Amino acid sequence: MTVSTPDSDILWTDDFLIGIDELDFEHRQLLEDVNKLHQDLLAHADLERVKTILGRIHARLQAHFALEENFMLDKLYADYATHKDEHDQLLNEYTQRMVNYEKDPTLDNRKSMELTLRTWLVEHILSNDKKMIQMIKAVS
Ligand SMILES: [Fe+2]
Repeated sequence: MTVSTPDSDILWTDDFLIGIDELDFEHRQLLEDVNKLHQDLLAHADLERVKTILGRIHARLQAHFALEENFMLDKLYADYATHKDEHDQLLNEYTQRMVNYEKDPTLDNRKSMELTLRTWLVEHILSNDKKMIQMIKAVS
């Protein structure tokens, strides 16, 4: 996997596909934004510009999780609560690190924010989202 080497982009591969077009589309969009953020941070972009991307990622995460949660409810997914809990944790942790970074944009805060976002997101898609689709397919 091409994932969390902290100093390179996350390379999109078919490994990320879970087989539901609208969710796949949003996953890809999110990873592209995470890469854009990474490039801007490496290029020492202006803090206001970085804040714009951070806010956009936050909004996209919220919207994406809501879409996925509706999908799970619609499919009567048995592990809905656990999966939603993971979404909430991811969003909370990202929000905290984002706020820390905006208040105090040090290299350490940047790295922990990026690491949290990249690792959580990639692992979530590759394990929890895939498991969800497999379980839903198995009972339908
Ligand atoms: Fe998910």
